[in-house]
Amino acid sequence: MNVGIIGCGNISQIYLTAPKRNPALEIVACADVFLERAEAKAREHGIRALTVEGLLADPEIGLVINLTIPAAHATVALQALEAGKHVYTEKPLATTREDAHKILDLAARKGLRVGCAPDTFLGAGLQTCRKLIDEGVIGHPVAATAFMLGHGPEGWHPDPEFFYQPGAGPMFDMGPYYLTALIHLLGPVDRVTGSARISFAERVIGSAPKKGQTIKVNTPTHIAGVLDFAAGPVATLVTSFDVWAAQVPRIEIYGSLGTLSVPDPNTFGGPVKLRLAGEEAWREVPLSFPNHENSRGLGPADMVTAIGSGRPHRASGALAWHVLDLMHAFHDASREGRHVLLSSQCAQPAALPLGLAAGVLDD
Ligand SMILES: NC(=O)c1ccc[n+]([C@@H]2O[C@H](COP(=O)([O-])OP(=O)(O)OC[C@H]3O[C@@H](n4cnc5c(N)ncnc54)[C@H](O)[C@@H]3O)[C@@H](O)[C@H]2O)c1
Repeated sequence: MNVGIIGCGNISQIYLTAPKRNPALEIVACADVFLERAEAKAREHGIRALTVEGLLADPEIGLVINLTIPAAHATVALQALEAGKHVYTEKPLATTREDAHKILDLAARKGLRVGCAPDTFLGAGLQTCRKLIDEGVIGHPVAATAFMLGHGPEGWHPDPEFFYQPGAGPMFDMGPYYLTALIHLLGPVDRVTGSARISFAERVIGSAPKKGQTIKVNTPTHIAGVLDFAAGPVATLVTSFDVWAAQVPRIEIYGSLGTLSVPDPNTFGGPVKLRLAGEEAWREVPLSFPNHENSRGLGPADMVTAIGSGRPHRASGALAWHVLDLMHAFHDASREGRHVLLSSQCAQPAALPLGLAAGVLDD
């Protein structure tokens, strides 16, 4: 199946090199609202540059990878589906629940597939963690903690305003990595609660070209959430742009027989560490799977392979919709002072089988 990319910004480079790592991916064209950006990428990667309309009208393209900014994700995904193409979108699936519904409904009506980033859970680190949990090495999972703590991107990002507007903030920007990893490891979530605050009313940009300009903060920048998983475990997730320094781990899974230390879910590799009841120290577990370098593109490669064989794909629209619903639910719970029951559900994505070569997915 031929693939076209819409959105030729920062993240497009790693996707454009994905066919080298994933034999199932055949990227033939790219497009952007700024045609010159598409032309530059097309020249570099030996593919065709098209207008967005031209790419959507091209009958040879069966799947669109949507790498536009979050505010445009839904519009572009709906355009791709209307044009009869499967679509894989960078995270988040959409910014509102309404738009996510529209995307999934249209895809169902047209018999097309929706996929969504992140695909880091298909990497060596998180697949090794899943194997250890599924094999019962830590017993049955009882709880988890996950922390994404930092002081925001305005010190380095060239255009950081959008991070402090509704639909962004630390939860919508980084939450998808943590929530997708937790659902991959523990299954779907039944209910959440949380508290959110804006700790600093303004941010001062430290990076060129807007150095010294201030940003008015219009969305919570510290969100502390609690999640009850359908299978029983209770997890704590804190995402923050308000913290200068911290020593907490990224993700830990606590089981009846021991603890699993999970690698950064914004990466594909390790380290994976274990410490079982009675053990005096942590030990690093060798990774059992390939794809430990930056392997963005595994998600759409899995989608193309799955479309070919008819099996479900792993980085699915249903999973991304559950993640989006959760991110909104933390904010709703804080505003309304209650637990929020999730109406979205998704199946835990299938674990990868052992023994696949790097970049190759199972039929
Ligand atoms: N940059 C990163 O490190 C990174 C990492 C992981 C995920 N992401 C995600 O990838 C997506 C893109 O991020 P980025 O950093 O590449 O952003 P970017 O702003 O660098 O690039 C986005 C590109 O999309 C184009 N675009 C916007 N609206 C469009 C539309 N309607 N039709 C066609 N083109 C359109 C823009 O012109 C731009 O070239 C975001 O969803 C982001 O969350 C980014």
